[in-house]
Amino acid sequence: MLRVGIIGCGKIAELRHAPEYTENPACKLVGFYDFVPERAAALAEQFDAKAFASVQALLDNVDAVSICSANNAHAAATIQALDAGKHVLCEKPMATTLADCEAMVEAARRNGKYLMLGHNQVFSPAHVRARKLIEEGEIGKPLMFHTMFAHSGPEVWTGTGNTWFFDRKRAALGALADLGIHKTDLIQFLLGEDIVKVSAIIKTMDKTYPDGAPITVDDNALCLYETESGAIGHLHVSWTLYRENEDNSTKIYGTEGVIRIYDDPNYSLIVERKDGTSQKYDLEQITTNADQKAGKRTSTGVVDAFVAAITEGKYSPANGEQALKAMRVVFAAEESAKTGRMVEVKHH
Ligand SMILES: NC(=O)c1ccc[n+]([C@@H]2O[C@H](COP(=O)([O-])OP(=O)(O)OC[C@H]3O[C@@H](n4cnc5c(N)ncnc54)[C@H](O)[C@@H]3O)[C@@H](O)[C@H]2O)c1
Repeated sequence: MLRVGIIGCGKIAELRHAPEYTENPACKLVGFYDFVPERAAALAEQFDAKAFASVQALLDNVDAVSICSANNAHAAATIQALDAGKHVLCEKPMATTLADCEAMVEAARRNGKYLMLGHNQVFSPAHVRARKLIEEGEIGKPLMFHTMFAHSGPEVWTGTGNTWFFDRKRAALGALADLGIHKTDLIQFLLGEDIVKVSAIIKTMDKTYPDGAPITVDDNALCLYETESGAIGHLHVSWTLYRENEDNSTKIYGTEGVIRIYDDPNYSLIVERKDGTSQKYDLEQITTNADQKAGKRTSTGVVDAFVAAITEGKYSPANGEQALKAMRVVFAAEESAKTGRMVEVKHH
């Protein structure tokens, strides 16, 4: 039985990691750590586990950990855990600098332990099916792609406008790190190739703290991407979509047709072929923050994939190396927005 712990006891720990570990029969949720001890104590009580007084004390009692703290705390805790011989499931974005992301992957390699990221998009049923259809040639050679991830902002999810998500020192980037990393990773997953050129506009357009001061990270990012094979497309991520439903849509356009994912209220996946025929797939809708806060669903597949990777050696598309490739693209987008130039991504 895999013994697991959780570092960082906020919303994602409470709504995803803890319930998903509790439901997985191959592991036991041993305990929690948070630098605010009351938060660890509250989740320990809720999930019938222990609250630990330090990261080390938690590590001494587990085989694997989830890192669910604020972005600026991901790298140090991940490397500490890997160096202690533990497997790590770290929440996204991987870290706040590219050097830290590289160091995390290197720590996993040198310790022979497993590193995975909370990139839940690559486990959602419509994305998994779309990847298979693209691999099988259903839409021919992919030429173009459009992907969007937009909602009304992390203050709705965390329940406070004074959130670290808005603070450059703790989050590094805003919508681009929060949502853009998911969709950048998703495009590389769906197409099965790397993004190699990036051009981006990254802006803070509307979001403020409750006192009216502007936030110090972006609330919108628009990125133009080109892949190794020459496919081109754009990603738009935003915290300023002010309506109830988020936009989580992706479209891939190929030489033989189009795949539309989470782009229709009734069908999660639609294939429209060149010859005018189409196929609609009635797959599960994607897990949303709002659904999880309302207690509607708990499983994103992330924890199950992490546990299966460790206990059964099963491949997970959200492994550390894949996540690092997506982070390289995100940091290249930041550089492009700063310099006003197109940036080539070096996947060495
Ligand atoms: N996969 C997803 O779709 C998804 C969704 C939401 C959040 N997240 C990610 O999960 C992480 C946590 O987000 P959240 O929404 O739960 O935030 P949150 O603010 O609700 O919780 C963060 C928790 O981490 C604790 N913390 C911060 N720094 C710490 C440190 N150095 N040591 C120990 N504890 C520390 C805080 O006290 C807090 O309890 C973020 O990186 C976020 O980007 C991922």
